[in-house]
Amino acid sequence: MKENRNIHVSEGFVSYLDRCRLLNQNGLVLWMTGLSGSGKSTIAVNVEKRLFDKNKAVYRLDGDNIRTGLNSDLGFTENDRNENIRRVIEAAKLFKDAGIITIVSFISPYKKMREQAKLKIGAGCFFEIYIKASLEICKKRDPKGLYKKAINKKISNFTGITDIYEEPEEPDLIIDTDLLSVNESVEKIMEFILDKIKFS
Ligand code: ADX
Repeated sequence: MKENRNIHVSEGFVSYLDRCRLLNQNGLVLWMTGLSGSGKSTIAVNVEKRLFDKNKAVYRLDGDNIRTGLNSDLGFTENDRNENIRRVIEAAKLFKDAGIITIVSFISPYKKMREQAKLKIGAGCFFEIYIKASLEICKKRDPKGLYKKAINKKISNFTGITDIYEEPEEPDLIIDTDLLSVNESVEKIMEFILDKIKFS
């Protein structure tokens, strides 16, 4: 952390509530965590579309996408993953403050960083959704062929094989994709958030 550089935060004339009123929704963050191949991105794009079709202002921050731009300088060591998530927390907070329903889909394997996310974004507008799938099923799905590469030692620090994934202990919602279809998963999330996004 840099020392104090004489930074002065300025408040504008437009508040968070003003923005929510304009958009007729509450800004919030749906934080999806889970193994690679658990279904986070697939579920996220579908939830985004469902909300958009309901005239909601929604935006998605996805690990693979953000790693091509904002976080293209980061790899998969513990330090890099922490920095990856630190930046995404800040980005998600900005979107939420703009009144947007923000869907975050990152492996976010470390409990400590997910706790940071909740703390920084605010417990009332942060919802941790555990996209749960067994390692066996993820290995079978292996949509990007990365499990195979990790098992053959072609890539290192791979979550679930050569790096840890700390399961959420008290997520707000669990979506078990070993058991649920994509549609069922999306439906469950929609049910969970509809009353939360209603502007109050
Ligand atoms: S996180 O752990 O830092 O939260 P993030 O969600 O941004 O990960 O990126 C995960 C994606 O990067 C995976 O879906 C996969 O496509 C790709 N990837 C490449 N190498 C690795 C690795 N060593 N471990 C996990 N994912 C990897």
